[in-house]
Amino acid sequence: MAKKASQSQRKIRGQAMSATKGKTGSKAWAGRFDSPTDARVEQFTESISFDRRLYRHDIAGSIAHATMLAEVGLMTKKEAAEIARTLRAIEEEITAGEFSFDISKEDIHLHIESELVARLGDVGRKLHTGRSRNDQVSLDLRLWTRDAIDQLDRGLIGLQKSFVSAAIKSGDLIIPAYTHLQRAQPVLAAHYLLAYVEKFARDRDRLRDARRRVNVLPLGAAALAGTSLPINRKRVAELLGFDSVAANSLDVSSDRDFVIESVFGVTLIAEHLSAWAEEWILWTTTEFDTIRLPDAFCTGSSIMPQKKNPDVLELIRGKTARVIGSLQTLLVLIKGLPLAYNRDLQEDKPPLFDAFETVAHSVELASAIVENMNWNRAAIESKLELGFLDATTLMEQLIHLGMPMRSAHEAVGKLVRTAIECNATLANLPVERFEELAPGHGREIRGRLGARQAVLAFQSEGSTAPKRVQEQLQHWKRELKIS
Ligand code: ARG
Repeated sequence: MAKKASQSQRKIRGQAMSATKGKTGSKAWAGRFDSPTDARVEQFTESISFDRRLYRHDIAGSIAHATMLAEVGLMTKKEAAEIARTLRAIEEEITAGEFSFDISKEDIHLHIESELVARLGDVGRKLHTGRSRNDQVSLDLRLWTRDAIDQLDRGLIGLQKSFVSAAIKSGDLIIPAYTHLQRAQPVLAAHYLLAYVEKFARDRDRLRDARRRVNVLPLGAAALAGTSLPINRKRVAELLGFDSVAANSLDVSSDRDFVIESVFGVTLIAEHLSAWAEEWILWTTTEFDTIRLPDAFCTGSSIMPQKKNPDVLELIRGKTARVIGSLQTLLVLIKGLPLAYNRDLQEDKPPLFDAFETVAHSVELASAIVENMNWNRAAIESKLELGFLDATTLMEQLIHLGMPMRSAHEAVGKLVRTAIECNATLANLPVERFEELAPGHGREIRGRLGARQAVLAFQSEGSTAPKRVQEQLQHWKRELKIS
């Protein structure tokens, strides 16, 4: 992607040099200037190399704007129709790669407008009535972000489905769960996988919430104060599917909260994926050997013939750094800006685009990996009784029989110490050791030890109790419409 972008940037630069030679008055704002822009300034201030990806949204916004202008009498219906038709033709040319970009026209807004004027003359010159690039760029970004959120939501649904399918496939497999990366308690593999479904559910909810604030119409704020022309903002909002119209022109023409909170939502997805990737990187090692990744999603070494490396997971983790960087860039970008629009805001686009794009790719690859992973059941089972995963449940058994919690904790701690000394599991200890703790119940207590028994003992809502996990699985199957 990055390579492609820099190639196109070079192409744009090359074209610009020839296209701007000798021109003084070709710019939309050239009226009050008496000399052409310095070539270095054009290079420095351009945004077409990255904001051209807004072209569809820019054109959709302009068509809605022109429709409204005709309805309120600021242009004729015929002119609006001509503008809409020409904008659609321009859109097709851009999509087909037949449109030429040139940094002397700065950004996507001026490119499309100047092309319209070149084709329609005075009719094209009417489009920017009652509008400024300041509200236009906010409109385009809101439309883009709204689409990006919807697309990412679809990706996240796919990811959740992959985790749910893996959970179904895992059946009654029990795995060790960790705190501090030390063996803690046994859980159903399905319970473990559903933990991620919950995280991505919150991520989706967060984006949905941000979307409400994205979906507010900025157009009509014009440069910063609104306009004296009789525009109809509600109509434009309706045409573009916005829920409401921004109440304050100074606020909305400068506001980038919506960009930042959307990117924050995206960053948290990256964080969740990164931690998950780290976990699976560890679990594929010989030291853990819990899961097997599909060959198609791993790479080899150019020197060590035996290697199978989890590079995709490592890059999901690594790219998270970039996404966090984008959020950081945006936060710093707005921190010192007086009202209203400042050109600094042009710098919001690369981090916004990059954050969404990077995470969308990570989500897609993560789904594929989860769908195609396998548990190394033999290795898991052979080590399941290591690490005293049943100790806490044993303690709870004693509590059941009336022992105060702290005493039960201490008693089981001592049993664990004995077991370590004789290189045994708790279930291997002589029945007398349990009799001492709960006279008349020694045999029964010992019979309920072991990881599998411990899992069966769980009860509480949200726990790894097989019944609870089944309920959760059914819930997510319904929610995600998995048959
Ligand atoms: N390319 C500009 C941006 O992304 C568009 C707005 C320019 N407005 C201005 N007053 N120069 O922010």
